[in-house]
Amino acid sequence: MGITGSIAAYKAAMLCRLLRVAGAEVKVVMTPTAKEFITPVTMATLSKNPIAVEFYNPENGDWHSHIAMGEWADCYLIAPATANTIAKMAYGIADNLLLTTYLSARCQTVVAPAMDCDMFAHPTTTENLDILRKRGVVILESPEGELASGLSGKGRMAEPEAIVREIDNLLSAKQSLAGRRFLITAGATCEAIDPVRYISNHSTGKMGYAIADTLAKRGAKVTLISGKSALPTPQNVERVDVCSAEEMYQATLARFEEVDCAVMCAAVADYTPVEVSSEKMKKSDDTITLTLRKTHDIAREVGAKKGNRVVVGFALETENEKTNAEKKLREKNLDMIVLNSLRDKGAGFGCDTNKVTLIDAFSQEELPLCSKSEVAEHIADRIEKLLNR
Ligand code: C5P
Repeated sequence: MGITGSIAAYKAAMLCRLLRVAGAEVKVVMTPTAKEFITPVTMATLSKNPIAVEFYNPENGDWHSHIAMGEWADCYLIAPATANTIAKMAYGIADNLLLTTYLSARCQTVVAPAMDCDMFAHPTTTENLDILRKRGVVILESPEGELASGLSGKGRMAEPEAIVREIDNLLSAKQSLAGRRFLITAGATCEAIDPVRYISNHSTGKMGYAIADTLAKRGAKVTLISGKSALPTPQNVERVDVCSAEEMYQATLARFEEVDCAVMCAAVADYTPVEVSSEKMKKSDDTITLTLRKTHDIAREVGAKKGNRVVVGFALETENEKTNAEKKLREKNLDMIVLNSLRDKGAGFGCDTNKVTLIDAFSQEELPLCSKSEVAEHIADRIEKLLNR
């Protein structure tokens, strides 16, 4: 465990305790500033190992190997990780023991960021986290809520229980989907009106990206066909960027035959302009009329030729939710449909949480409001059952 100088360091004590209870051996390395937030005595007592902070003992010159812990561990968890440490990790700065341990670690590194919401949202931090992600570091989700600064937003350290759960998943490497191939559509399509404007919707892609991430973590080979989305590509996922419904249709159909399961999560435009102006349309009349034509219903077409593949669709309904979802399940020949309603608070576009009902031909399972990654775990569990039926 690496601990850095964040107020969230107080949670490191509980985290260490939970790791020990879960059966882990824990050695702790702290940055010098971390000692201001939680004492080495606390961490040494809980981890049952001496704490490492300096490269050598200033009293007697005893040298602490700057790489030994990185070689020893099965997992290097840096929690809390400040913006400063994250930036140094991204650029290979090695001016303390925590950082030399990172550079020499042969195991999976996991980072739980902890900082003020504006620091977390700053493009520098976002880019640094992306750099680490691309190098295979697992970045744990930072939940929204009250911050030490008095502000409220994203930047809190994930709760110790959630961190232990993630580590457990990572290390037990539930490779239950190894060898299985998946196609996921996610995000919003954009239908061009002219070279400048388009018709789109509020989808952010969060649910589809969370599903791609979960399936990849279970060992599946995942291709994510993504419309508009600002999210980083999940680890070990091949991403194909598309713009329009037509492009998404082509990309999906070209790959569908090779997969075991398709999850159609994208918010695909049902209609697209018949004509796309080659020049930017000028403002003249008080009203204008756009003529739209139907797009391919990708889920329906994939459903029609699914054979023994599993196809999962989504339904976002504002009225007669369950009846409409059941109708779509049948008409599109899907194995399961995930219903989310815009009526539920904390569900739908842009939220980190979702409240869904999983509907198949035989059952309806209403899940409580939970994070999109937890919803993704439930969906993945159900998909596994469908694949193994
Ligand atoms: O019919 P509706 O758009 O409500 O159905 C939603 C489901 O169908 C989602 O799984 C969505 O990804 C998929 N869909 C599609 N192609 C379309 C429209 C919807 O794949 N053109």
